Amino acid sequence: MTGTAIWGIGKSSPERVLTNDDLVAMLDTSDEWIQTRTGIRERRIAADDETTSTFAVGAAQVALERAGVDPSDLDHILVATVTPDEPVPGAAPLVQHALGATKAAALDVNGGCCGFIHGLQLASALVASGQSRRVLVCGSETLSRIIDWTDRSTAVLFGDGSGAAVVGPADDARLGPFVCGTDGSKRDLLYVPAGGSKLPASEETVAAREHTIRMKGQDVYKFATEKMTETARALLHEIPADDVDLVVAHQANARIIRTVAERLSLRDDQVVCNVDRYGNTSAASIPIALTEQVDEGRLQDGMLVLLVAFGAGFSWAGGLVRWGRR
Ligand code: ACO
Repeated sequence: MTGTAIWGIGKSSPERVLTNDDLVAMLDTSDEWIQTRTGIRERRIAADDETTSTFAVGAAQVALERAGVDPSDLDHILVATVTPDEPVPGAAPLVQHALGATKAAALDVNGGCCGFIHGLQLASALVASGQSRRVLVCGSETLSRIIDWTDRSTAVLFGDGSGAAVVGPADDARLGPFVCGTDGSKRDLLYVPAGGSKLPASEETVAAREHTIRMKGQDVYKFATEKMTETARALLHEIPADDVDLVVAHQANARIIRTVAERLSLRDDQVVCNVDRYGNTSAASIPIALTEQVDEGRLQDGMLVLLVAFGAGFSWAGGLVRWGRR
């Protein structure tokens, strides 16, 4: 088995910023409520001509350049998303074409907010087993297109954007272990009722806004804090929490991140939180946060990073990353 590593990482976000005050003009809400309950101040929202694949391509180009990899050398492209440009084909073939990644097989990973970690695990396994030399993993979302903008309980939470990583071989194992799981009995905690084979699109589904996210917020909160803590503990069972340099959790809500950090006795300087500026970007949140840490010089070669997420399914996922490629 070959060791694997992240060779390069990048992000791409829409220009348009939607602040809490902008939402106050549309909904019965307040900046104070949103900030207190979620920690979110603003989020990025796609322009009319932007989609999940356009963000993924932007993030991928940065990641590929930093990795020193030409798109034509990619063997696989995995795009983690719940908001592909169209139901068929997935977003990944569009990314493959736009990048000119002529040798790459391209497919989507529908793993909710855990999708990027699932993608990293799959990429690492492909490279470690010798089935692939270079894999592009994107987490990309245009959640603004599946939000009910009249529902204050969900409209304030989400945002758009993408992050991407190039995974390749390394002298030592820098990716993993990973811990992942799913409890499908909790599917109704977070779902989009219509648009699939169960309830195809119709005038009625559109009128009832059934193509948008339904969420049981308090149940999600409880499950998220429990499962993220449990997943992190499983990964750290032989590693003191102090040895972790950075914890990058799925950026859904600052209160969830704080609660998990407290339960794991983490110091503030170990915990990354940028949800105030992006909102919840689902599969994109972890690679966006990682890229910011690299850009700000906080994430350096040799550092130990803990990734942990929860999301629709209901699912949970975590992994350890030793940063850098050698
Ligand atoms: N502005 C003002 N009031 C609001 C808003 C809003 N935007 N949204 C809800 N309220 C009201 C409710 O109507 C309710 O009013 P009532 O008491 O008169 O009935 C009151 O605020 C309290 O509502 P709760 O739902 O109990 O609020 P809670 O404290 O649970 O916070 C929140 C809601 C922020 C959604 C919280 O439950 C949460 O963070 N859950 C996790 C959400 C999450 O992370 N989802 C995504 C996960 S999966 C993924 O990432 C794809």
